[in-house]
Amino acid sequence: MEIKVVTKGLLTQQADCLVIGIVKGTIKAEGALAEADQALGGNIAALFSDSEISGDRNDTQFIHTYGKIAARRILLVGLGDEAELSFEELREASARAVKEALKAKLTKLAFALSDAWSGLDAKEASHAITEGVLLADYRFPGYHQKEELKPALESLVIFCAEQGAEDAREGVRIGQAFAEGTNLARDLVNMPGNYLTPTVLAEKAKEVAERYGMEVEILEKPDMERYGMGGLLGVNQGSVQAPKLVAIKYQGTDKWEDVLGFVGKGITFDSGGISLKPGPGMDEMKGDMGGAAAVIGALEVIGRLKPDVNIAAVIPTTDNMPSGSALKPGDVITAMNGKTIEILNTDAEGRLILADGVCYAKEMGADYVVDLATLTGAALVALGTCTTAAVTNNEEFMEEVMISAAEAGELLWRLPAYKPYKDQIKSKIADLKNTGGRNAGSITAGLFVGEFAEETPWVHLDIAGTSWADKDNDLSPAGGTGVMVRTLATLAQLRSVNEKEE
Ligand code: BES
Ligand code: MN
Ligand code: ZN
Repeated sequence: MEIKVVTKGLLTQQADCLVIGIVKGTIKAEGALAEADQALGGNIAALFSDSEISGDRNDTQFIHTYGKIAARRILLVGLGDEAELSFEELREASARAVKEALKAKLTKLAFALSDAWSGLDAKEASHAITEGVLLADYRFPGYHQKEELKPALESLVIFCAEQGAEDAREGVRIGQAFAEGTNLARDLVNMPGNYLTPTVLAEKAKEVAERYGMEVEILEKPDMERYGMGGLLGVNQGSVQAPKLVAIKYQGTDKWEDVLGFVGKGITFDSGGISLKPGPGMDEMKGDMGGAAAVIGALEVIGRLKPDVNIAAVIPTTDNMPSGSALKPGDVITAMNGKTIEILNTDAEGRLILADGVCYAKEMGADYVVDLATLTGAALVALGTCTTAAVTNNEEFMEEVMISAAEAGELLWRLPAYKPYKDQIKSKIADLKNTGGRNAGSITAGLFVGEFAEETPWVHLDIAGTSWADKDNDLSPAGGTGVMVRTLATLAQLRSVNEKEE
């Protein structure tokens, strides 16, 4: 969709709907609201004084313009207290406006939200608006014989002050990159397992890499055998689908140094294997590649914004199926780094493929590793659906990831990883066992992956609760959320900024 930044012609802008922000209190003497109010002969001020609109968050109101301005309607969007206005608020208000507009089948929108703003500069404001609009406009088309006609936005105009126009255009570019990376991840998570096989997932990752000139390598089964990737091969044993391991290098500086590793769990369907899952809800396990999707989505953002950082992205992918050749409880396998693992539950498969994934990222030169995975139902029990669970071996790196998440507007909380938890994953007959029992399941799962990061600074993000939404919310419809795309991309962006300042 084309997004234009304009500085003049609020009243002559052709649009289905002109979206104007309104804060609590009184109408200011200047700005979009005052200009529109004047053109409508004081109609907005009247609504305000008659308490039909208040400026509260969540307050929205359509006004017909009867030809008094070029836009057919105005949508007033409540922004709450001016003093509390933030990037997040602006993003959500924009998303709410899109939802209202689409409900009314209005698809050509013009936004004059940001002049209610004192705290945000033009770049941040237009970033927030663009991101909110594009995230809220997301739909997964599905597979109906006849495509359902769901309204989607056709065009977007953002008004801003003359002196901020260049910054605002840059903000649009950033917001577009972040939203489209997130929406790409959502698409991947929403695709069913028969469409998104490991081969297709690998192709999708490769497409993104090649679009932005990144180096890409896809390991096939014989390569995995050569590397001794017993974790990925073990999980794949029961499947008729070929396993893949995608390795992508994004080099943003002259030397391949200070490399950030992103490793994403790519289980395209998790039946549990021989430790078969119960039937109800098993379909949702098509989304068990949310970690891989987050990595691919982040590469989309990074490819567009080109931060001066180096990234080694690794996606081990297979499905997890039961069959006569499948991995069995009691089996012992050997991961790429030689560590042996006793399998107690074949449904704890994510950590097995991540073990090899993390080893391979280090092989590629990763100096830091973030792994992302829909790893444990226990993460959902502990933190619910809004907060991603983290485990780390390094305070400083954890802090950096926390700051990135806060900046990106994604919620993240660290779980304790004290030594005694490690005892839960010790095996009598191998170096590790793949489950640590019911207690502290997300922590022991994380620590299992950490055994392969070893001394490398590492953060584990368990997105089992956050990668899939059962209900619509302002910023996304039910289904894949694309969680952590923006955190990963922000981590890369912030490192780039720091580098430039030095
Ligand atoms: N993919 C699941 C975790 C999951 C559960 C993701 C719910 C999203 C929603 C993972 O592979 C799994 O099955 N984990 C087991 C681990 C257990 C066997 C130790 C779990 O959480 O029950
Ligand atoms: Mn599982
Ligand atoms: Zn799984």
